[in-house]
Formats: sequence, structure tokens, C-alpha cells
Amino acid sequence: MNRNLALEFVRVTEMAAIASARLMGRGDEKAADQAAVDAMRSMLDSVECSATVVIGEGERDEAPMLYIGEKVGAGEGPDLEIALDPLEGTTICARGSQNAISVMAIAEKGNLLHAPDTYMNKIAVGPEARGLVDINLSPTENLKRIADAKNCRIQDLTAIVLDRPRHEGLIQEIRDAGARIYLIGDGDVSAAIATANPNSGIDVLFGIGGAPEGVIAAAALRCVGGDFQGVLKPRNNEEIERAAKMGIDDINKVFTIEELANGNVMFCATGVTDGSFLEGVRFKSWGATTHSIVMRSESGTIRHIRAEHHFDRKPRY
Ligand code: FBP
Repeated sequence: MNRNLALEFVRVTEMAAIASARLMGRGDEKAADQAAVDAMRSMLDSVECSATVVIGEGERDEAPMLYIGEKVGAGEGPDLEIALDPLEGTTICARGSQNAISVMAIAEKGNLLHAPDTYMNKIAVGPEARGLVDINLSPTENLKRIADAKNCRIQDLTAIVLDRPRHEGLIQEIRDAGARIYLIGDGDVSAAIATANPNSGIDVLFGIGGAPEGVIAAAALRCVGGDFQGVLKPRNNEEIERAAKMGIDDINKVFTIEELANGNVMFCATGVTDGSFLEGVRFKSWGATTHSIVMRSESGTIRHIRAEHHFDRKPRY
């Protein structure tokens, strides 16, 4: 995969971030999401590639744009698969809170899990605990292993968990084990990535979130050498059937990081609202500034890109 493509794709997340950031704090999740989808869809067509959306806005009958199976790109270049979320954290954006991002992961054909739009139980850690966690073990046992790997006490670890009633038991167990907890309202992609950033203060992500977000987070952690495991958590038989149609017959299968995102993976994300991961979009009299991250698993290079967008010279904006 041509490494320069990563810089092409960051233009796509930048544009989606700017479009949705205009609607920050307006209380309209749908409008913010739609703005991001429209912007991402139109920008994708300028990228020299022939790509298929494998993680997108939903099935073809429920999403008019960026649906699973949709072909995007200018049609030339390598055959790629894309997992995207034009606005990860729609509620965050609508409320003007922290860590809404626009995000894409790209791999060569056949390397991203085609995951149904259901839930996934997840564990994510940074490079120090890579290969040591096991989602089939208890959170307590995993915390012990992470503490050993980091040469610290469980009491020194911080677990990040989505604040949901379904996590009551999980939260209690983490508390009983003695670790600290950072509860978040939404946004478990940036939460998973935070485990690999030594400055984030986050050591592990536990809990159930969206399966599509799981594939995107796994792709990001592949780039930074972290680890991720996921088990689908369908809510009904229809979701089990959807998984089967996508080739997943064993619904209890533990997906390793490589089974979620294999081969050479590129990841790019742009901040929509401010967060610990990325700065949000700032509007100026002349345009806007964005903060993005671009990573490649092949080289492990992590690029932070701060851009100034001058709207008078960019008709698309
Ligand atoms: P959206 O951007 O689609 O709203 O997703 C936000 C999110 O918090 C994800 O980060 C997470 O994986 C998922 O929702 C959790 O789902 P739920 O809100 O149903 O618990």
C-alpha cells in the first residue's frame, strides 16, 4: 500500500471533522453525523484508490451513503478495504463534550473483519501488556497481568469503561480488584487508543461497545503495537444471522487483533471536539484549524498533523 495514501486519507477525516464540528453543541446528533457522512463521502471520491467500505454507516438498505459494500475512491490504484466512522461520538459532538473524532482505518483487501453492526466485548492495552491479556479471563486476572507487565500495583492502574448499566458488574469487579476507573459517556475508539499512550494515564479498556468501533480500534492499536481482543455480543437472533452472513459462524469466537485488522494497516483520525487524544476543530475568520493523527502499522510511524484550512481557497468547504 502506497504510504502517501495515508496523507490522502487524512484529508478525508479533516473534511468530515470540520463539517460536523460546525454543529458542535447544537443538540442534533443526526445532523452532526449526516454532515460528517456527506463530507467524508464526497472527499473519498478524490482519493486515488479503489476501495470497499467494510465497516460503515450500516447495511445498504439502512444507509444511503458509506454503507457496507459501497465502492469508494477515484477508481484507480490498489484494491483496499476501509473501516470508517465519519463521526465517532455523535452524542459527544451534539453535547459539545470531549473526544468526538472522525476516523478511518484502511487495509489491503481481505484484511479487515467484516463485523456486523452489533456489540462487542473488548479488552485493549498498550504495547507493554501486548500478548499478556486474555478476554476469557476475569478483569481481576487481566489487571494482575497488566500490573506485572508494567511493574506496578493494581492500585496504580486506571481502567477506562463506558458508563453503561450493563457494566455494573464489571465496574464493581475492577473496584474490588483495587484499580482506578475512568468512566466515559461515549467514544471507546479514542479510549482504546489511549491505552497505548503513556501520557494518557489509561492502562486498559474493558467492556462492551460497538463492534464496528472494535475493528477501528484494533486497526489503530496494530499501528502502535498495542493489543486488542473482541467477542461479538449480539442482542438478538437477527444480529447472529447477520454475523453468519458475514462469515462468522462461531458467535463466541475471540477475535485477536490480527483477526480484526491484519496486514499493513493505515489509520487516520481528526479531532472534532477537544479531547485528550486530539484537539478539536477551531473556526477562524479565514477558515479552520484541525489536529489529526496518521499511523501506519508497517513503519510504526505516528504523525500528528496540524492543518490550517483557508476556506477562500478551498471551494469544497
Ligand atoms: P456513535 O458515535 O455511533 O454514537 O458511537 C458512540 C459510542 O460510544 C461508541 O464509541 C461505542 O462503541 C458505542 O457508542 C457504545 O454503544 P452504546 O451507546 O449503545 O452503549
